[in-house]
Amino acid sequence: MTDSSRPHFDPTFAQRIPAGRLPELLRAMPKAELHMHIEGSLEPELIFALAQRNGVSIPYASVEDLRKAYAFTNLQSFLDIYYAGASVLLKEQDFYDMAWAYLERAAADHVVHTEMFFDPQTHTARGVSMETVVTGLHRACVDALPKLGVSASLILCFLRHLSEEEAFETLEQALPYRDKFIGVGLDSSEVGHPPEKFARVFARCRELGFHLVAHAGEEGPPAYVWSALDVLKVERVDHGVQSAKDPALMKRLAQDRIPLTVCPLSNLKLCVFPDLAQHNLGALLDAGLVATVNSDDPAYFGGYMNQNFTQTFAATGLGVQQAWQLAANSFEGSFIDAAAKRAYVDRLNAVFATF
Ligand code: HPA
Ligand code: ZN
Repeated sequence: MTDSSRPHFDPTFAQRIPAGRLPELLRAMPKAELHMHIEGSLEPELIFALAQRNGVSIPYASVEDLRKAYAFTNLQSFLDIYYAGASVLLKEQDFYDMAWAYLERAAADHVVHTEMFFDPQTHTARGVSMETVVTGLHRACVDALPKLGVSASLILCFLRHLSEEEAFETLEQALPYRDKFIGVGLDSSEVGHPPEKFARVFARCRELGFHLVAHAGEEGPPAYVWSALDVLKVERVDHGVQSAKDPALMKRLAQDRIPLTVCPLSNLKLCVFPDLAQHNLGALLDAGLVATVNSDDPAYFGGYMNQNFTQTFAATGLGVQQAWQLAANSFEGSFIDAAAKRAYVDRLNAVFATF
């Protein structure tokens, strides 16, 4: 899309909508979520309910006790608890119930489209079949459009702390269900596991026609974002906030309109930024990047989509124009077709015009 054919912000929106109504506007505007790990939406209450239903024991006495453990210092300190929480998921209905709980919350936040990550290796390693995982999650996605008005799709993530050979085995197991997910991604412990470790499996996924994304530049250096782009050939970078340290990389991301799926409350809770006021979301937008706002692991990081928007805007002083830009970017960065993108941006403009 050329610069002139791309949707642009109407400055009369900013003249008409007072700053005091910004939180309400952020909540009401239609938006897409492009970076959310479905296992990271498991609330402590659901972890306890599923543990009881499945006879799984967990090393916490109560919901409060578990919530108290959510004091993270970095990505790894979170991942240890996140993988432990996922151990209560055994049956197809468990995966459905988890996804449905997230989709209801997404609908309440006016998320109209979501592309949800799932980590099959976390489950297949415990003897849960790929079929159980994919069919449970996919059934919830299918129900979401007629019942909640949310279009939902799935992206399979490879765990980067495991080997590329294991990623290939996971891909093989998933191929019978290839119509049930739209792309592949790369998550888990970033530092020490650069994107190029997965060059061959991503090349294969590209041949198979999957969309490609990868976490890069969350804690890892700009070099990992370069190799996600140039070696893995990803279409979107998850997090990517460390790119701001490399002006040549910022130029590349802006020129090629590579979306960054930024997760402000995640960055705060994992100490990527010392406080939200120092988050670089505004700087990324100012540099012309297709930055978006997302919740990452909302049950662990203290907020779903609208809390990510309202808390970040309150802390950084972003305004009406950036609200519109972030929502428009979320549609541009999604893997829906051009007509659907236009229809969502029309809905976005209608909300701003009548707000
Ligand atoms: N980074 C890497 N891996 C993850 C994350 C994240 O933010 N959330 C769940 N798995
Ligand atoms: Zn993530």
